[in-house]
Amino acid sequence: MLSRNECIKLLDEYIHTPWLRLHMRESEVIMIALAKKLGEDAERWGMAGLIHDLDFDYVEKDPKRHVIEFDNILKIEGIEVGRDIPNDVYHAIKAHYAEHPLITQKRESKLDYALSASETLSGFLVACALVQPDKKINSVGVESVMKKFKKKDFAKSINRQLIFDIEKVEISLDEFIQISLKALSDISDEIGL
Ligand SMILES: [Fe+2]
Repeated sequence: MLSRNECIKLLDEYIHTPWLRLHMRESEVIMIALAKKLGEDAERWGMAGLIHDLDFDYVEKDPKRHVIEFDNILKIEGIEVGRDIPNDVYHAIKAHYAEHPLITQKRESKLDYALSASETLSGFLVACALVQPDKKINSVGVESVMKKFKKKDFAKSINRQLIFDIEKVEISLDEFIQISLKALSDISDEIGL
């Protein structure tokens, strides 16, 4: 399995958009916090968060090519699924875009649902922080996040259902938001929030 340093080198090579790099880091810390809470493998869950959008700059943010061409990068880098990337991590990365007609992996496992929920919530929480007067993640509370889910005009491109599906991972939505806010607060300087 790739070490975290090897994953970071992949990000250095393939991710050039600052917000995208932050998004992957934010997804990583949420996944690690969630894994620790659930007694799952924090290293594997963290890896899924950290590299899930590895091909997004490579495909020039084209939704038709996203996640499909993740496999090209693996080929170029000589990375083997099952050896360098655990099968369940690979499955979750593919399934996080299960809506794509050419992606056959569906969300099934806890890891699959956790990755989609975490990477979606990370974007939503950043949006919540940016509308605070001080723009700080520390100023965002669970209740205000819950209220914003209901506001259709707020961060309207974010699919709330992917976040709500966290309940399939046997954790409540409240607790998931709480854990995620704490995880992002812990790296607030790094993410500039
Ligand atoms: Fe993502």
